[in-house]
Amino acid sequence: MSASDELADQDLDSSSSEDADLGEGGMPRVSRRTFMKASMAGAAIVGVGGLGLKSTSGALLQIAPQTTTSPSDAFANRTITLIVNGQSYTLTVEPRDMLVNVLRENLNLIGTKRPCNRMECGGCTVLIDNVPVYSCTYLAVRAGQGQNILTVEGGKTDNVLNTVQQAWVPADASQCGYCQAGRVMAATALLKWNSNPTVPEIQAGLEGILCRCGTYLNVIAAVQAAAQNLGGSQ
Ligand code: FES
Ligand code: FES
Repeated sequence: MSASDELADQDLDSSSSEDADLGEGGMPRVSRRTFMKASMAGAAIVGVGGLGLKSTSGALLQIAPQTTTSPSDAFANRTITLIVNGQSYTLTVEPRDMLVNVLRENLNLIGTKRPCNRMECGGCTVLIDNVPVYSCTYLAVRAGQGQNILTVEGGKTDNVLNTVQQAWVPADASQCGYCQAGRVMAATALLKWNSNPTVPEIQAGLEGILCRCGTYLNVIAAVQAAAQNLGGSQ
């Protein structure tokens, strides 16, 4: 008789001695009915609001749930104010909305691209208080707390960004252009923090921004030119 046949037979047997049966090696043999009873007991504990766990001794342990925020509060839309390129926007977003989506779809700032949408390529890079972040995985509600957001459209008001953009074309730093918004923003952040970077520092500053067209060398030249045009005074 197979093991599954044995289990089926045990389920049909309603005698109370089934739990006491010993299987191979002296291990207790548990029927499907007993397993289901135990599972349902555990589910009931979870169902009343706690996490039911069994200790090694078999006793049920209870871990109280956190009750500071109700589920309906957690999923409620939020009204936030984003400061983007020096301009203030008040809008309502879902708590799960990522910054790149709000920039592109709510504010129509489509210069920020979304090539991978999963924190792998860096093409969605924007600056928050001069720090480069991947906007595809940065919650809009987190960005709406008074921070200054700078996107590739902000060259009219940001001198460093404008200087980087001016250096990009003569250096032939762009091919298809898909990665370049993120690359320009990373270069801008670098020059805001380091006005005269070395080549290894430029490479480190632009790390994490992938370019399928392979424009890496020309981008280094563009950043060097921008640093020179800024006169090392940033
Ligand atoms: S789109 Fe954000 S890292 Fe690729
Ligand atoms: S210029 Fe085409 S991906 Fe970078």
